[in-house]
Amino acid sequence: MNISEALDNARKTIIKKKKKLIWRDIFEILSEVTKLEINKIHLYSDEFLLSIDEVKKFNEMIKSYCNNVPLSYIIKRRSFFGINFYVDERVLIPRFETEILVSNVLEFINLFKNKYPNDRIKLFDICTGSGVIGLSIKKNISDIDLYLSDISVDALEVAKINSNLLSIYGLFIYQGNFIDPFLKNNLRANIITINPPYISHADKNLSNDVFLNEPRVSLFAEDDGLFFYKNLLQNYTRIVDIDKYFYIIIEFGFQQKKEIEKLCSQYIKNNSYKFIKDYSNNWRFLILTNF
Ligand SMILES: C[S@@+](CC[C@H](N)C(=O)[O-])C[C@H]1O[C@@H](n2cnc3c(N)ncnc32)[C@H](O)[C@@H]1O
Repeated sequence: MNISEALDNARKTIIKKKKKLIWRDIFEILSEVTKLEINKIHLYSDEFLLSIDEVKKFNEMIKSYCNNVPLSYIIKRRSFFGINFYVDERVLIPRFETEILVSNVLEFINLFKNKYPNDRIKLFDICTGSGVIGLSIKKNISDIDLYLSDISVDALEVAKINSNLLSIYGLFIYQGNFIDPFLKNNLRANIITINPPYISHADKNLSNDVFLNEPRVSLFAEDDGLFFYKNLLQNYTRIVDIDKYFYIIIEFGFQQKKEIEKLCSQYIKNNSYKFIKDYSNNWRFLILTNF
């Protein structure tokens, strides 16, 4: 079977299943199967013949696609902050908005790195999942000490795959509940990044594509989705180096600012905090500092 025939079969299957036909997605899948660069596929449409195994793999992937399995899980990769990360069903698919968090941290490091003259900056990426936040930062600024943690052993396996793919070595990986590994090991950070689960168990608006495919542990949190914010705000002074500048940034859901603001005024006494928005003009990040 050549490429034209494979594409035509995929088109027919997708139309039959009444799924929206997005050619870019089909080309991504075919590129994954054939290892041809996506922009070269059309050049070879007649002469490139798929092997029997490739046809089988392509058809299986198109079937998953028709069953609404997210493209990133099918092709096992997702671009984040201009870097290709490995992803699979063990981790949340990194969201584009989370790149805002990474940009803010890079800006902070560039502005403040001379304030840590004798030390390397210590960064904890808590609830790391596939590791995209911490690893993107370390890929851009290599001379920091990076700590990744997650409760999910499966997610940490994916983070390890990504650190190897990016040739990032010498990082510290901890499995455990939220900030416990840092408390237990008496570790304190200069920067903390967190994109925790924040969906309330009672939330009825979650799309089926997310609910049915992504790991529950990466989505839902107790206390109406506020568990991790409350826990962090009650305890952050125990896991940051309070004698130096510290910077904590945490993502939250687009309807949570009001509740989180209440928690901030309840728990933050001598430090500063501010909120920032995402590209859709929704408040999505809390930044907490001591300056
Ligand atoms: C929303 S995902 C974020 C993943 C990644 N940081 C990102 O931005 O794509 C939340 C992550 O928190 C982890 N998690 C859930 N409950 C946790 C807990 N109690 N302690 C530590 N990590 C937890 C999940 O396994 C998941 O990897």
